[in-house]
Amino acid sequence: MIRFEKVSKRLSGRVVLDEISFEIEAGETFVIVGASGAGKSVSLKHMVRLLTPDTGAVWVGDECVSRARSTRLDRIRERFGFLFQSAALLQWLSVGDNVGLPLRMKSGLSDTEIDERVHEGLAMVNLEDAFTKFPGELSGGMRKRVGLARAIITDPEIILYDEPTSGLDPVTSRTIDRLINRLRSELGVTSVVVTHDLHSALAIGSRIAMLHEGKMVEIAAPQMFVQSKNEFVQGFLEAQYITTQGHWGKTPEAS
Ligand SMILES: Nc1ncnc2c1ncn2[C@@H]1O[C@H](COP(=O)(O)OP(=O)(O)OP(=O)(O)O)[C@@H](O)[C@H]1O
Ligand SMILES: [Mg+2]
Repeated sequence: MIRFEKVSKRLSGRVVLDEISFEIEAGETFVIVGASGAGKSVSLKHMVRLLTPDTGAVWVGDECVSRARSTRLDRIRERFGFLFQSAALLQWLSVGDNVGLPLRMKSGLSDTEIDERVHEGLAMVNLEDAFTKFPGELSGGMRKRVGLARAIITDPEIILYDEPTSGLDPVTSRTIDRLINRLRSELGVTSVVVTHDLHSALAIGSRIAMLHEGKMVEIAAPQMFVQSKNEFVQGFLEAQYITTQGHWGKTPEAS
């Protein structure tokens, strides 16, 4: 479904992606973890060509995103929903208008139909009451959920989530996890989720990939991922107190 073929990218003179190759299957939830600056957001951006590889190629189905021309590229992008790390809401539009924006831009729906869909979208992220509010009036976690409603409003085939649960309280985070799982099981959505939250990764991922300094150091199903011998994966697991059985381990000893 989405394939990276030896993708390399330099930004500001630094190698940010170093010949990474992997393939995401249709209908899976592919989770990408890794330290800050590892290249996770940069990878997502390559999938919709907000960035292009210096060498290598990115494919979506049988279309080469990294070489597609404008109309083709538009068609490929329409298959995606994107939740940006920053939520990226337009401050001067109400929540309802922010969420409805992708529908207004592409569909021939009436205003009433759009409003109905927006209400449904907001209900899915437990924000029914936010319709007439403005982004500036919301908490960070609420803004993130509005961004999520906007990413799913067009029923996209593929959804890219950049840190969907960061800044959310644990209960809301699990609501988002359940939503991602539901989209997969009920609608067959393919999801790519970037997260620091390993508990979420283990709960939603069909496979978990770890990026370290622009290289893919592991790709495995959750139960195998937690047993990885890779030193960076082990460090990452230990830092979140996760044992090789995927359970909550003991807290570090006080020094
Ligand atoms: N537009 C850009 N111009 C220059 N450098 C960039 C740009 N975007 C990203 N980078 C650099 O590329 C590297 C990887 O960035 P990326 O945003 O992918 O990190 P990340 O893994 O998403 O980290 P985080 O967990 O902090 O979001 C970083 O060193 C970053 O500074
Ligand atoms: Mg990022």
